[in-house]
Amino acid sequence: MLKVTIDDISIEVPPGTTILQAARMIGQNVPPAMCYYSKLEGSGGKCRTCLVKVTKGSEKDPRPMPKLVASCRTGVMDGMEVRNETSPEVIDARKGVTEFLLINHPLDCPVCDQAGECKLQDLSYEHGLAKSRYEFKRREFEKRDIGDKIQLHMNRCILCYRCTQVADQLTPERVHGVLNRGEVSEISTYIEQAVDNDFSGNMIDVCPVGALTDKTFRFKSRVWFTKPMLAHRECTTCSGKVTLWFQGSEVLRVTTRKDKWNEAEAFICNDCRFEKKKTEDWTIDGPAHIDTHSVIAQNHLPFELPVVQKNLPDAL
Ligand code: SF4
Ligand code: FES
Repeated sequence: MLKVTIDDISIEVPPGTTILQAARMIGQNVPPAMCYYSKLEGSGGKCRTCLVKVTKGSEKDPRPMPKLVASCRTGVMDGMEVRNETSPEVIDARKGVTEFLLINHPLDCPVCDQAGECKLQDLSYEHGLAKSRYEFKRREFEKRDIGDKIQLHMNRCILCYRCTQVADQLTPERVHGVLNRGEVSEISTYIEQAVDNDFSGNMIDVCPVGALTDKTFRFKSRVWFTKPMLAHRECTTCSGKVTLWFQGSEVLRVTTRKDKWNEAEAFICNDCRFEKKKTEDWTIDGPAHIDTHSVIAQNHLPFELPVVQKNLPDAL
């Protein structure tokens, strides 16, 4: 086991663990992650929000690392010492990264369906400037249609590559990707082909911002006004374990179940996500606990059950 100390808290972790993973194991002072996603192989290393300062490389070689490093891509060494929230340099760099991410991202939270569960919204509350210093024209993209269930708003994309990794790793063939380089990079389907496979809806759940949203839920409600319930059904394509988001007795949307890092516990199929919008399609397991440090946590405690519920276990 390797000993690592992050913001004066020590933990022993197995070889191969990254600094970010070790911080998540500790559960405190965890660097924000806009592109890393533990369920997606090869994710991370794109957004730089998870920068930390390594003040001691290892027991064998105690020299500090000369630059801040991406914690999602840097492996722990035995005896390593890391500063995250206790380093003014890291906080300053994170402010800079947030400012860069917001250069082209429109501040349309009042009309964006992702508001309340958007990682960039959280990041800008914590590290953003009240006013942009950018004076040039922002990137703008033509609207692209990527199918009848998923809405792409390229202007909001931060190019984290998570959605392309979902497509790569969950589906037999990928029909979208990142085109071009630099400021003109964009997510697009080649020749506007629809993203049409059984698991494409998971791109919505992994998108940290509102660039990919659920067309069947668009503009129906702010997420903090909905009531999330864990539910399951027999499904031959996926685990069938989901979160239902109720307004009264109506299921407004179906998503994966999320862990405390806002990552999907298990990916679900499009049939469960888009086609099973009736309460009777599901067996309700109980209220979903919203455990993320985000706007969505508002209005969800104390939890109230929706008015009409079928299949509720007796204990509820
Ligand atoms: S659309 Fe969303 S998930 Fe895909 S690269 Fe852009 S921000 Fe990331
Ligand atoms: S989470 Fe580490 S670079 Fe994006």
